[in-house]
Amino acid sequence: MNAYVGTPTSRVDGRAKVTGAAKYAGEFPADGLLHGFVVEATIPRGRIARLDASDALQVKGVVDVLTHVHRPPLADNDDAWKDEVAPEKGSPFRPLYDDRIRFNGQPIALVVADDWETAKFAATRVRVEYEREAFATDLESEHEKAGKVDRPHQPRGNAAAALAGAAVRHQADYVLPTEHHNPMELYATTVVRDGSGRLTVHDKTQGVQNVHKFLCSVFNKKHDDLRVVSPYVGGAFGSGLRPQYQVVLAVLAALELKRSVRVVLTRHQMYGLGYRPMTIERVALGAKPDGTLDAVTHEATAVTSRYEDFSRNDTGWAEQLYKSPNSLFSHKLVELDLSTPCDMRAPGAASGVCALECAMDELAVALKLDPIELRLKCYSDRDQSEDLPYTSKQLRECYARGADAFGWTRRNPAPRSMRDGKELVGWGMATGVWEALQMPVAVRIVLTSNGHAEVSCAASDIGTGTYTIVAQVAADALGLPIENIDVKLADSTLPQAPVEGGSWMAASSAHAVLGAAEDIRLELARLAKAMPASPLGGVDAPDVILVDGAIAKAGDKARAVSIADAMRHGKLERIEKQKLNHFAEDNSHARNTHSAVFAEVKVDEELGVIRVTRVVSAVAAGRILNTKTGRSQIMGGVVWGIGMALHEETVMDHRFGRIMNANIAEYHIPVNADVHDIDVIFVDEPDDRINRLGVKGLGEIGIVGVPAAIANAIYHATGKRIRRFPITLDKLL
Ligand code: MOS
Repeated sequence: MNAYVGTPTSRVDGRAKVTGAAKYAGEFPADGLLHGFVVEATIPRGRIARLDASDALQVKGVVDVLTHVHRPPLADNDDAWKDEVAPEKGSPFRPLYDDRIRFNGQPIALVVADDWETAKFAATRVRVEYEREAFATDLESEHEKAGKVDRPHQPRGNAAAALAGAAVRHQADYVLPTEHHNPMELYATTVVRDGSGRLTVHDKTQGVQNVHKFLCSVFNKKHDDLRVVSPYVGGAFGSGLRPQYQVVLAVLAALELKRSVRVVLTRHQMYGLGYRPMTIERVALGAKPDGTLDAVTHEATAVTSRYEDFSRNDTGWAEQLYKSPNSLFSHKLVELDLSTPCDMRAPGAASGVCALECAMDELAVALKLDPIELRLKCYSDRDQSEDLPYTSKQLRECYARGADAFGWTRRNPAPRSMRDGKELVGWGMATGVWEALQMPVAVRIVLTSNGHAEVSCAASDIGTGTYTIVAQVAADALGLPIENIDVKLADSTLPQAPVEGGSWMAASSAHAVLGAAEDIRLELARLAKAMPASPLGGVDAPDVILVDGAIAKAGDKARAVSIADAMRHGKLERIEKQKLNHFAEDNSHARNTHSAVFAEVKVDEELGVIRVTRVVSAVAAGRILNTKTGRSQIMGGVVWGIGMALHEETVMDHRFGRIMNANIAEYHIPVNADVHDIDVIFVDEPDDRINRLGVKGLGEIGIVGVPAAIANAIYHATGKRIRRFPITLDKLL
């Protein structure tokens, strides 16, 4: 039955991607295509006093310069600018809306020309005068102004008293910097206008229907006036969850000029979109000498913009993970003159769990306990925050399998005790945790009598492998070879799907496929049984299966009818079924994925150079639909975790409220030379409660815990505890 699910199936879109056949948003051609180039504000706060585009307009090839005073109408109420992703309280950013400057790098004009180079050159000819206002961009200097976010955390017991009375205590602040998404593909939109004025919007996004709905409301358009497509996405990592401003500008220009228009942001301009907010994570742990916890407190203070409150779950993980009778959690925001942060891979958890797991390591040192032993002492088989059992939780097994593969028992616990030549060697570990969410998704399957099926859905594949798992699940459910399955995704006219994010798309899309395939099976069973002298005569529909291109009796493949024969007899060329997925309502269990991450670092003390020479990530995430693409997902998360630990940091000059390293040369991400041995272990985690296939999703768990495991390894190697990330070499010298 499972010829493909659970196997290391290669990407069905792999060939298109590596041969260049896959087209990205900025690559679609159109007759008479115009190109827009964004002019950015160069102050963080104030007003545009004067914007003079006359010189730019004189450049040969320039068609127009759109500004807040020269543009088609835009919706004037906040609701129209909200999208399905943003739970943020406040007023979403509206590009070219008015004269207000809210952040440095804000788009203030769009120069439109016959070609990109001309638009780019003419953009330098746009003259802007500002009325400047006092501003603040530094979280640490504005720390006192933090306001609390209401979150449904139930404090347990009396954490302050328990901490004060604890035999062993650890409290520290961990500082995580602002980080920017750097997907390979630049942010881009190509709006193709047809003769009747309808727009096809090729947009780089994680959710075409979200963008479609957003554009309709922002531009007051009818549903059929535009269509949004995004068949391939070159990485997004959360930055494409909300509609980004380039899509608004491209549509704005297409409407104003009645032409097709492309807007591609530069790498620099992408730093004017969202980011992982800088946070100060204060964790306090109190324990008994045996390592059981008396108290946990976690207070996060994070950056947000002045126009929206962005907050994610940084602090809830300790509440859920570790047994403690007393606990207190809070999340505070500091409003600064910056753009609103946005989701970035494992938002909240990547930062919050980093702090928690560094703190747990420090507590283990104070208790003279092995770090795994400490975690086992406070291990909980129930979600502590809700006091619920899990649908499944094989974290214990992750610790055991990961430790075994890593060789953890050979670790000498004393810092600075392990060496390799002149390098210090350190071994550290951490826990990872994420949610196993599932969302409404509908899938349409069209089966043709030649045994081919088209499976379609509006979901995006942001590089995560959605095309492939949808094909795998469909091939198994329809009993067809995977080559016969054609998957169509990321077109707003296709059946309903949410944005691809939150690690929910694998479970959600797989179950929609199962639902539609089930309806196909029933229809084929009906046709087969209706044939004269049918070998399936008298077989009940539940006993009819689809296998090897045929309709057969379960357990008796000899009693079978080919799909072609059944459909020919029923005079059907095609069978079309569409189904919304269905998950049983069940609030009686918590749903999470977990991991145990082990890292080895080698540190050259003379130079301060740190290498992450080995990482073992043991992951429990239910059934793994595709062990090949799944492994890639986890490896990608580990690589980013190396970046969080050692490299990534958006650096601001707070005198100007301006990012100093808004480029991929000075904003450091791991390169091949930084990535050594990564071993991914999928721990068996049967889960027949969460959903039919027992799938939990892998998009985000791979990064959680990795920076802490590396920081803990660095402490073990050097005896130096660095609590301010990234751990660059200057901090070790
Ligand atoms: Mo992910 S941060 O939900 O794209």
